[in-house]
Order: sequence, then structure tokens, then C-alpha cells
Amino acid sequence: MTDEIRIEPIREDHVEGFREALDIVARERKYLIFLEAPPIEASLAYVRDNIAGGHPHMVAVADGKVVGWCDIRRGSRNAEAHCGSLGMGIIPGYRDRGLGRRLITAVLDAARAAGMHRVELNARVENSRAIALYEKVGFEHEGIARHAVKIDGRYFDSVKMGLLFD
Ligand SMILES: CC(C)(COP(=O)(O)OP(=O)(O)OC[C@H]1O[C@@H](n2cnc3c(N)ncnc32)[C@H](O)[C@@H]1OP(=O)(O)O)[C@@H](O)C(=O)NCCC(=O)NCCS
Repeated sequence: MTDEIRIEPIREDHVEGFREALDIVARERKYLIFLEAPPIEASLAYVRDNIAGGHPHMVAVADGKVVGWCDIRRGSRNAEAHCGSLGMGIIPGYRDRGLGRRLITAVLDAARAAGMHRVELNARVENSRAIALYEKVGFEHEGIARHAVKIDGRYFDSVKMGLLFD
């Protein structure tokens, strides 16, 4: 099934679809620190910056529609330029079919090829599906950030995870 879904480096013509997918996942209020997508101009600027700056950013495309994304932003300060920060999401209906694994593997391969040494991320502790995926591709638990997220007046803890390339 997922063979029909292509994993592609993001292009400017994906921006609208990328923003739409991000908005859908953000509005679920369960997974991301965004609760809605940024405006289209900001999304376009983000994608342009990723393309120009060589930050790995892939999208999953099914029948011309962006159904997921994964990106790694390289640290902007000199002493953190070997590190990248990963974010990803897949819209409902396309989860639990191995697409997350395909996306993250492609983006990690690109990060490694770009010479990054460390990739890190944060996930809400109750997001067991995401944490399981990150463990499977080699991330290790590095600690819990207590009350790192507040949504609808409730606090949630985040797990910090990191992966070092050999
Ligand atoms: C998290 C997410 C990216 C995972 O992608 P996915 O396509 O649904 O996951 P996959 O089908 O690739 O599954 C990945 C692996 O985790 C396993 N897995 C899934 N849920 C699991 C769970 N609750 N416990 C243990 N393992 C689990 C799968 O069996 C699979 O293992 P395998 O590759 O050995 O078969 C996707 O579900 C998603 O976007 N969720 C909502 C947004 C989100 O959580 N974003 C991340 C924020 S940190």
C-alpha cells in the first residue's frame, strides 16, 4: 500500500500541501507543539530556508497530496552546527502502515550524508507510537522535560531523545 506513496525531498510546490498536513496534525492537539500551522508565507519561508540551507526535509505524497513530512533543522550556532532537530507527522488515515519508518529513514540518511553527527527530538511521553518508531531507528532516551507542554490548561511531560551517527 505504502509503495504507492512517494517520499520526496520537499519542493516549493509542496508548500501548500505540507502546511495543510501540518495543520491537520497540529489541530489534533495531541502530538505537536503547534496547535495550528503557521501562515502560508511563514511556511513558504521555512521551506525555502530548508532547501537553501540543506536542512533535510522530505514529504510523503499520495496521489499528488502531501500526507506526511519529516524534517531536520541543523543548529544555527557554530558549536551546535553538528546537531539537528527532527520533527515529523503523518495525517490520519496514513498512519500505522510503515510510512513513518520510510520517512524518518530517508531523512536520517540525508542528515548523515550532510555530515550531521547528532539528531535530537522531543516527543510527548504518552506518544508511544512515535517513541516506538524513534527507538526502532536508533534514538535513545535522554531524559524527561517535566511540564514542557501546556495545552488547554493541562501540562504534559516530554521525552528528549537523541541519535548519534557513528
Ligand atoms: C508517529 C508517526 C510518525 C509514526 O508513523 P507511522 O507510519 O504511524 O508508524 P509506522 O507504521 O512506521 O510504525 C513504526 C514502528 O513502530 C511500531 N509501533 C507503532 N505503534 C507502536 C506502539 N504503540 N508500541 C510499540 N510499537 C509501535 C510499528 O509496529 C512499527 O514497527 P516496525 O517498523 O518494526 O513494524 C505517525 O503515527 C504520526 O504522524 N502520528 C501523529 C503525529 C506524531 O505523533 N508526530 C510525532 C511527534 S513527536
